[in-house]
Amino acid sequence: MRRDTVPLLRCPRCLRGGLSAGADSAELLFGPLSCVRCEARYPVSEGVADLSPDHPEPAGLLQRGFELPLVARGYERSIRPLAQAALALRRHDAQSEALVYRSLLGAPPGPVLDLGCGTGLLARKLSREPGFPPVIGMDLSRAMLEEALAQAREHGAAVDLLRAQAPALPFQDGALGAVLHVGGLHLFPSIDTLLREVHRVLAPGGRYVASTYLPPRLRAGQWLQASAGLYPRTEDTLQRALKAAGFRGFERLLLPPFILVKAVN
Ligand SMILES: C[S@@+](CC[C@H](N)C(=O)[O-])C[C@H]1O[C@@H](n2cnc3c(N)ncnc32)[C@H](O)[C@@H]1O
Repeated sequence: MRRDTVPLLRCPRCLRGGLSAGADSAELLFGPLSCVRCEARYPVSEGVADLSPDHPEPAGLLQRGFELPLVARGYERSIRPLAQAALALRRHDAQSEALVYRSLLGAPPGPVLDLGCGTGLLARKLSREPGFPPVIGMDLSRAMLEEALAQAREHGAAVDLLRAQAPALPFQDGALGAVLHVGGLHLFPSIDTLLREVHRVLAPGGRYVASTYLPPRLRAGQWLQASAGLYPRTEDTLQRALKAAGFRGFERLLLPPFILVKAVN
């Protein structure tokens, strides 16, 4: 993690204090981050800060899968493209996908958070663009973050990685220029708190760009998905939730069964 990223962070325990690092090197590889207010300490290992060290084992089947090293290793090459192709019933084209997210993000006025970054596929691409603001990847899964770290090193990408559990976001108010949230909204049974948090951490004019998928038509399908811990949402529901969280300028791109949304702080 770059030292410059530390002032953007907020203690997830007391929700008030900033964090400070012991060492003063430009890159923090090891050593704790400490809350300047409540003195909570968070480990940093190989540059990855763990801001959710006491998080219990995940309950959902899907999240338990994301915690498996084997899943994390095969995620980018096979699991992700296969899952997307199976849902969309057509070949997945990673280059087009990246281009769409890039154009939805515009010119972020500050650091960009890839929320639920997984193995950091999109975070790496963004971080390599000349002049693009610093990119931070956040995820709950240790296995995904380990793979993200290995991939970032292999590709020479400068992405700051941290482990934390949404819906709480461990950032100061207005600290970020954009939040990218790909394939993650449907993992939350309720999105109201999450969207309020995204709104809080974005600077004025900052964008939230997210993708999820639309609910199946049949009620039985919806019930099955909810029992599997998946909560797809309609365009109307997303638009209403974003407005209630304080966002404006809702735009969406329908690529059934996926829906991509962009909203401005
Ligand atoms: C479907 S994957 C998408 C990964 C990545 N955005 C991509 O497009 O490849 C969802 C990711 O969200 C992470 N995740 C799930 N619940 C989370 C939470 N409450 N806080 C942070 N990350 C979470 C999972 O660990 C997983 O890596």
